[in-house]
Amino acid sequence: MEKIYAGITAVGGYLPEYRLTNKILETMVDTNDEWIKTRTGIDERRILKGEGLASSDMGVEAVKELLGKRGIQPEEIDCVICATVTPDMIFPATANIISYKAGMKNAFGFDVSAACSGFLYSLTLGTTMIESGRYKKVIVVGVDKMSAIVDYTDRTTCVIFGDGAGAVLLEPNDEGVGVLDSILKSDGSGKDFLHMKAGGSAKPASHETVDAKEHYIYQEGQSVFKFAVKGMADVSYELMQKNNLTADDISWLVPHQANLRIIDATANRMSLPKEKVMINIQKYGNTTAATIPLCLWEWEKQLHKGENIILAAFGGGFTWGATWVKWAYDSK
Ligand code: UT7
Repeated sequence: MEKIYAGITAVGGYLPEYRLTNKILETMVDTNDEWIKTRTGIDERRILKGEGLASSDMGVEAVKELLGKRGIQPEEIDCVICATVTPDMIFPATANIISYKAGMKNAFGFDVSAACSGFLYSLTLGTTMIESGRYKKVIVVGVDKMSAIVDYTDRTTCVIFGDGAGAVLLEPNDEGVGVLDSILKSDGSGKDFLHMKAGGSAKPASHETVDAKEHYIYQEGQSVFKFAVKGMADVSYELMQKNNLTADDISWLVPHQANLRIIDATANRMSLPKEKVMINIQKYGNTTAATIPLCLWEWEKQLHKGENIILAAFGGGFTWGATWVKWAYDSK
């Protein structure tokens, strides 16, 4: 029997209108444009404003754009996997809410919680579903409304994160293009360095947890930075070695956009020049699960069928990984 490959056949994205610039942040906390730019590479980030608007509202826009581009109906989708750490509610899954809002009546859906690596984990899951032959159209959404869990009095985290959504469609092909390999890793001891203290079963929400600001992101930046630089660079290099890929074989690196210095370290380890690295952190900051699909969305027109692309991520958990994609189409 011919091997079935899972190709990415369409990409959608959504970014909220509101731009939270470094200049505006200077009026909110003790920070400055120069510090933020040199330490992170970020100029501004997008924030979802509006009462009751949630991650699903951004995810659904990305999905609708993707369906329109591919020219298919929502009822044709078999499954929706949503990577997020800012679900609309702890339950039900945001994937279900996105399916409902977009009219994907025949899809089942579930969320994947793997922080900044969530999109890569979900893409790998979706790929195996397509490769099994059982499912024909799987949507993977990466979405986060980080502004919902950022403390805008904490200068060490509020300058980093932003909101956004990206989505890809996976479909079968027998041409050998698609998501070809992944190396995914996790290490639960990393939870001490990057987490939200309360609101889970270990420490349910209470007046005390709210007063202690325990429903916001807690990050020990320097420690995470050290693990991220090593983790993302090592796993990307490992994926290249495993698949006998040289820097010349690779057209693009799509790194998680957490910090420009982490991106540079990964590109250096892979011996890739800057021109081959997708970077939009200056415009959107760290949108957690959305960074990688948002890059694919922004660069879509420059991608060509058969090109080798490496996606790489590192995030809370710790979770990290790298994925090799052979791009499946030329965009019109
Ligand atoms: O995507 C999920 C995974 N997350 C990451 O990959 C993030 C990894 N970590 C980082 O990107 C960096 O650690 C940060 C951007 C979070 C921080 O950069 P850093 O170079 O590690 O700074 P630092 O934490 O070592 O702080 C250096 C100094 C400190 O002051 P002192 O103690 O030297 O006087 C901080 O208090 O910078 C100070 N600082 C700031 N100053 C101005 C911290 N935040 C700010 C700020 N503005 N926003």
